[in-house]
This record gives sequence, C-alpha cells and structure tokens, in this order.
Amino acid sequence: MDGRFSRRTFLKGAGTAAIAGALPMSLVELAFGDSSQNFTFAYISDSHIQQIKGNSFVRNWDMGLKRAVAESNLLNPKPDFVLYGGDIAQLGKKAELDHGLEILSGIRNKIYYATGEHDYYLDLGEYWEQVISPLYYSFDHKGVHFVVLNSILTYDEWINKWPSPEVRMNVMAGLDNPQGSPFMVGEKQRQWLQQDLAKVKKSTPVVVLSHSPLQKIYKGWNFWTEDAEEVQKLLQPFDKVTVLYGHVHQIQYNQIGNISFHAAMATAWPWPYPRSYAQAVSHMPKLTVPMNRADPFFERDATGWQFIDLHSGNVDLKYSLYDNENREIAFSKDSGQPEDTQFQKPERRIPPQEHY
Ligand SMILES: [Fe+2]
Ligand SMILES: [Fe+2]
Repeated sequence: MDGRFSRRTFLKGAGTAAIAGALPMSLVELAFGDSSQNFTFAYISDSHIQQIKGNSFVRNWDMGLKRAVAESNLLNPKPDFVLYGGDIAQLGKKAELDHGLEILSGIRNKIYYATGEHDYYLDLGEYWEQVISPLYYSFDHKGVHFVVLNSILTYDEWINKWPSPEVRMNVMAGLDNPQGSPFMVGEKQRQWLQQDLAKVKKSTPVVVLSHSPLQKIYKGWNFWTEDAEEVQKLLQPFDKVTVLYGHVHQIQYNQIGNISFHAAMATAWPWPYPRSYAQAVSHMPKLTVPMNRADPFFERDATGWQFIDLHSGNVDLKYSLYDNENREIAFSKDSGQPEDTQFQKPERRIPPQEHY
C-alpha cells in the first residue's frame, strides 16, 4: 500500500545507531484504506528507574530510557504521540518517578501514560495522579478509540495487610514472590469501560493500553489479569481490537476471538519466558497461538525494538533483535491470528534452552 511507511523510512531519521543495536522502543503504524488517515505512534515501556541513594540511580536503566527518548525524537515520520506502558519506577518512590519524568521530558511529543505495579504499590497511585495522569482514561485519534486501563489493581485485603507501604511495594516488586497478589482491572473500572465503549461505533478500531496482559499467561509471575475474561467480554462487540501491554519484558502475541494481543519489550531488562523457566507444562495455560521461543537466558534476547503495523485494525510486528535474526509477527488472513512469519511451523521453532 502506497500510504504505508517502509521500514527504511522509519530508519532514516535514526541513522546508523538504529541499525547497529537494540532500540528500546516500538513504533506503531495504523494504516487505513484511505492513506490520508494513516498515522504512527511510539511505545515505550518498563524503564524501572531505580534510586540507589540520593541522586544516584542505576545507570543501565537510565540509559535504556534515555536511548528510547533519543530514538523517539529521531523517528521519521514523526509519530503523532507516544504511549508509555508503565513501570517508570522500580519501587514507586517520588525520586524515581521524578527522575524518570525528567528523562521523559526530553520527548518532543505528547505522552499518554499507563501505570505499572512498580509505580503504584507504594502510595497506591497518589503521586502518579498528582503529577502524571489519571490512572484510566480514553481518547480518540484520527478515527481510532484508545483506552488506557489501570490493570494492576488487586484485592483490598491484600493491600491492607502489610505493616508499611514499603513492605507492600517490595513484595509486589518481586517477579515470582508467592506473597504477591493477582492483578485486576476491577469492577469499578469495568463499569467505566462499559460506559466509555457504549458511545463508540462497533466498526471503530479500538486500541487498549494496559500494563499487565489482559489475558492469563502465567499466574506465578503475575503475567496475569484476574478479570481478563470480563474485560475481553466488553471488547468482544467491536470489529477490530488490539491490546498493547508492557510488564512481561518480552515478545508475546496471542489472539482471542476478535482481540489481538501484543507485548512490548522493556527498556530495562528482559524477563525469561515462563515456560522454559518453569519446565512444567501445568504452570502455563495453553496459548491459542504457540509462540517461538528464542534463548531466554541470553541477556539481550527479547530486548530490542519493533515496528507494529495496524492494518485496518490488525497488527504486524517487526522486531529487530540484538544478535538475532529480524523477526516478523504478521496477522495471517488464512488463520485469522498473528503468526511468526518464519518460525510459526512447529518444525521451524527454536526449542527452549535446557537448564536447571
Ligand atoms: Fe516491568
Ligand atoms: Fe510490571
């Protein structure tokens, strides 16, 4: 399609740095039949800015976010806006959020924010709402309805059972801490979502930004949203729905009914893949689209950058992985789901690494 941007066009502004290494951001293209409506937006997620002491912060996490900011400013064509997928901070401290925001202030564009559990569980989103954005909201852009959800809420009993906010935050910050609690959107917000969607035409493409996956992947690590099915139900009446999420720090894609799911890579670090870590099939619910797994214990696997094309609501993702072949996940018209264009066939998949 003429109106669509080629990968080369995207890279022009970023120059050789883009080709040499891994960019910690995504660029999403929405393409329509009428190409004058096409637009792009950038997606940055999971920076985990971490205070060591005073003005000293973990340098690697700073650098990941700084690089994403620089690259987003160099993109050509310029994205219409930037989405931030949550986990700016590591332990929800004001100093961490402020430091992250200071780096993000370098972005010469409008940013829409979603909150993550690392931003939230110290003060339950108070500072976030004060200085960053509401915790959930929606907006329209060039014929697309965008919804930002706070998907990392949990049970009140769990929230109130800790001796201090710091202890609560530390528990929730652990990936596999069995004392954590499952994430959820919650009834109040689901009612809001229902009302918000009531005024949207069923043919309007809907893009949902959430921090946790709005699907159940692996409860042990909170790659999980407790009321995912209820949220999906509210999205089911629409022709084309895409859910973009952070939190999992790795490539994931799935299709449930009319809803395509895509995870973004983190600017901070990659998480290992649940199945290859757990080595226990029963820990991992069956995904509707089996995914190719590369090497989860290679430190740079699953960090990198990606282009996401939404063709009239369907999604193709083009990943550039450091020291890895480029990867493309494209929506297949034949099967009606996103598939890895090179590795989807079982005989072509890279087996998970054996480890202890
Ligand atoms: Fe994260
Ligand atoms: Fe998270």
